[in-house]
Order: sequence, then structure tokens, then C-alpha cells
Amino acid sequence: MIKNKNILISGGAGFIGSHLFENLIIKDNYIIIIDNFNDYYSGKEENIEEITKNYEKFKDFDLIRGDLLNKSVFEEINCDIDIIFHLAAQPGVRYSIEHAGKITNNNIISTLNILEYADKNNVKKVIYSSSSSVYGNPIYTPVDEEHPKNPISPYAISKLCCEMYVDYFFRENNLPTSSLRFYTVYGPRGRPDMAIRKFLNLIFQDKEITIYGEGEQLRDFTYISDIVNGLILAAESNNSSGEAFNLGYSNPISVNQLVEKMSKIANKPKNIIYADKQKGDVDITHSDINKAKTILNYHPQISIDEGLQKTYDWLRKNMNK
Ligand SMILES: NC(=O)c1ccc[n+]([C@@H]2O[C@H](COP(=O)([O-])OP(=O)(O)OC[C@H]3O[C@@H](n4cnc5c(N)ncnc54)[C@H](O)[C@@H]3O)[C@@H](O)[C@H]2O)c1
Repeated sequence: MIKNKNILISGGAGFIGSHLFENLIIKDNYIIIIDNFNDYYSGKEENIEEITKNYEKFKDFDLIRGDLLNKSVFEEINCDIDIIFHLAAQPGVRYSIEHAGKITNNNIISTLNILEYADKNNVKKVIYSSSSSVYGNPIYTPVDEEHPKNPISPYAISKLCCEMYVDYFFRENNLPTSSLRFYTVYGPRGRPDMAIRKFLNLIFQDKEITIYGEGEQLRDFTYISDIVNGLILAAESNNSSGEAFNLGYSNPISVNQLVEKMSKIANKPKNIIYADKQKGDVDITHSDINKAKTILNYHPQISIDEGLQKTYDWLRKNMNK
């Protein structure tokens, strides 16, 4: 268990970062968050507030509001860091097609700055949050880590490039690093631009859901607590040799099946419009997680039905926020 460590979480005010923050702060770790609270979506202040409000006694953390593109942000760190979880990135496959330059600059330079900081300051481990999007449309499924990388969006290209830097810093500088390829993560505090939160909100409001394509595309939805466990297992592992690991649930369902399940949980009719398939969207994501199982002892626990129920319960409670 990671305990009494100094931990930097970049992007800690975001969806995944805030859950990792919550998990680690209750284990007496000293947490430093760097986040620029970008305006891609709102609710990041509330993410931090939800955690600090629930754990009144755990106020001892450092929230640095700053941009990783600006190296002076690291001067605000007031201790020796043991572990960095690098989660900050500009996400959004579709958004990236319209803003390729911004995504490229933000994601790659912020990662390079993190790795240089870690290298100069003898950080013991850097865990990088990559994405299943690096594979593009699979040639075979389930997709293992050796599958060819054919990214089909600027976002996916940026994640793959960062993985290469993560590996390079291990090979050339002996900096212990790992990349984790997340598969469509969902749960409480989920990003409002992603299907599960977006669709549940629309179902609540009896509004139409737009599905791009025929809805038969398969997604390997992975619940947030499984991803947080995977991040922590990777940080604890002796294997930090720049390698990448898939972190998925490995039991994909179609988007049509997803909406069907949501409508049952919410006890509301579904109202779907089908629109043209969007550029950048892959037809299937399906992880082979044997490598993470064997090396990291990663065993995802939360089924889509259980995870959707938890997400629904949270959203109902927080609907008017
Ligand atoms: N959510 C998913 O399904 C998913 C899937 C695959 C990979 N990932 C990766 O996981 C990580 C976290 O994703 P998320 O869903 O929590 O996204 P998020 O947008 O909720 O969190 C990212 C955070 O990083 C911050 N940020 C971005 N650029 C920054 C910069 N230059 N300086 C400082 N802060 C910056 C943002 O303000 C945000 O709070 C990202 O790297 C993303 O690419 C997410």
C-alpha cells in the first residue's frame, strides 16, 4: 500500500485525478496537485470540494493552480516527490481534430516538462496515463500491448508520442516509468463530454440522445475504482521499465446496449437519434489485460451494471450542481 509518501498528481482536479487524490489522501500521503483548471468543462472546483468536504481532517495537501507548460510551476513544489502520477492532458478525441495544435502542444510539452522535472529531482517513479486510442481500429481483438499502433486522431497521436518519451526517459536516463492505457473510464465525477455522463443527463431530462453511427460500436467501459487500483498497483510494482499496460474491464458492450441499460436503471424511456459516424471514433475497443493481471496483479472488479448504478446514484444526488 502507498502510505506516507509525497505524491504529485498532475491533473488532480479532473475526473480520474480527483479519484486518485481521494484514494491516496486517506492513506496519510502528502499530496500535491498541479492543475490549470482549464475550461474544457466545468466542475473541477467541485471535484476538489467534494473530497475535502468529505474528509474534513485531511486538509493537508497542496493545490498548485498552474500550467505544466510553464516550468516555473515546479518551483512551487515544497518537498521531495516520491511518485508522480501524470494525468494532466487535454482530452477529447473529437475536440482534438478541431484543435490539433493545441492538443499536441499541451499534451506533449506538459509530459516532457514532468519527465525532465522527475529526472532532475530523483523522483522514484512516474506513472503516465495513456489511452487505448493509441491502437486505432483494431486488427484483432482483444487487443494486447503488442498490437500495432495506428492512432486516428491528434489526441491519440499525442498520447502515443508521450508514451515514447516515457519509455525514452527510462532507457536513456534510468527514470522508473510506466504507461497505462485506460479504456473509456466512467463513474461519479465522470467527464460531462463522455457518453455515460452525457447520456444519463439527457435521459433524466427526457431529452433525445444522439448516437454517432449505428450504435453497434463496442466499448470496453472501465469503472473508475478499477482504474485507480491499476494506477496504484503500477506505482507499487517493481516493473517500471518504461513499458505500457492495458487497463480495461475486458468485456465490451455496444453503445445501444449501454443506453438500454441506462434507461432501465433510470426507469425512463430512451429516445435515440442516429447521426453520421464521427471522425476519430474507433469501431471497437476491447482490452486484453493479461499483462496487467500477471505483472501488476490488476483484476478489475466492477461490472458495467454495478458501475452504471453507482454512477446513476451519484448523478442523481449531484444533478443540480
Ligand atoms: N477518461 C477516460 O476515459 C480516459 C481514457 C484514456 C486516457 N485518459 C487519460 O487520463 C488522464 C485523465 O483524464 P480525465 O478523464 O480525468 O480528464 P480531465 O480533463 O477530467 O482531467 C485532466 C486535468 O488536467 C488538467 N490539465 C490539462 N492540461 C494541463 C496543463 N497544461 N497544466 C496543468 N493542468 C492541466 C485539466 O484542467 C484537468 O483537470 C488524461 O491524461 C487522459 O488523456 C482518460
